[in-house]
Amino acid sequence: MNDLLKTIHQRKSVRAYKRVPIPEDVKTQIIDAVLRSPTAGNLMLYSILEVADQKKKDALVMTCDNQAFIGRAPWVLLFLADYQRWYDFYQIAGVGSDVNQPLRRPEVGDLFLACCDAMIAAQTSVLAAQSLGVGSCYIGDIMENYETHQKMFALPPFVFPITLVCYGFPTNQQQKKRRSPRFAKELILHRNTYQGLTEDLAEIMNSDLKSRFAGQLLQEKYNSNMGQLMYNRKFNSDFTKEMNRSVKVILENWRGSNLGDDC
Ligand SMILES: Cc1cc2nc3c(=O)[nH]c(=O)nc-3n(C[C@H](O)[C@H](O)[C@H](O)COP(=O)(O)O)c2cc1C
Repeated sequence: MNDLLKTIHQRKSVRAYKRVPIPEDVKTQIIDAVLRSPTAGNLMLYSILEVADQKKKDALVMTCDNQAFIGRAPWVLLFLADYQRWYDFYQIAGVGSDVNQPLRRPEVGDLFLACCDAMIAAQTSVLAAQSLGVGSCYIGDIMENYETHQKMFALPPFVFPITLVCYGFPTNQQQKKRRSPRFAKELILHRNTYQGLTEDLAEIMNSDLKSRFAGQLLQEKYNSNMGQLMYNRKFNSDFTKEMNRSVKVILENWRGSNLGDDC
């Protein structure tokens, strides 16, 4: 296995960090690697916002589903899908000053492209960090509570907070932690046409999940039915409902239905 593949295979989410700061030159190497990420049309449809203020980190603990380790992370970066920079640039350049050719607003397709850019940038940072001995963990809950995050970071309408990433040197316990399991390749890899979930494949999923949660299942209401258990724990959980509410507000802002046409 080459070094890059080793980095990929050894990575695991790290949620407890040594109480030491990440040296500036390490941060610089990570950011420089991020800037080399592939990006749609070479437009760099993302921004990175460093959350250095401890008060803001502490607030994020609460707004991101009470995840205390955010407040203890030595380095926290917010990855933003960003069409605002280009929209502003087009306006400054006078695009749309001709009434026959108005400046169009970024649409949902543009947002998706910007999200691709921002997530690829985030993953580059995760792998670069791993290669330098720095652990990391994504915080998807940043998509919740948009109204609070919008104010906290002064986000304009064409900026979508797609993910937060916490970084730090892993504690000894985290270094020893086992990597988390993955579904079998046959569930994920399709060839030429989409393979729907057959009963056999569903059984593979079910027994895989059972083996992962064996210890906890007995305490759960839906003892051996992993579908019902996962549905309640993830898909129909309160944090997922909040995420969907919050993303709806972001989309309304993006589409302009909350802000009028002049933003
Ligand atoms: C988009 C995304 C959002 C995530 N959000 C969270 C989160 O809010 N809190 C958390 O502890 N881990 C979060 N994770 C980490 C996953 O739980 C983790 O990647 C998964 O359990 C697999 O474990 P591994 O990264 O150790 O292989 C997130 C990962 C991704 C890719």
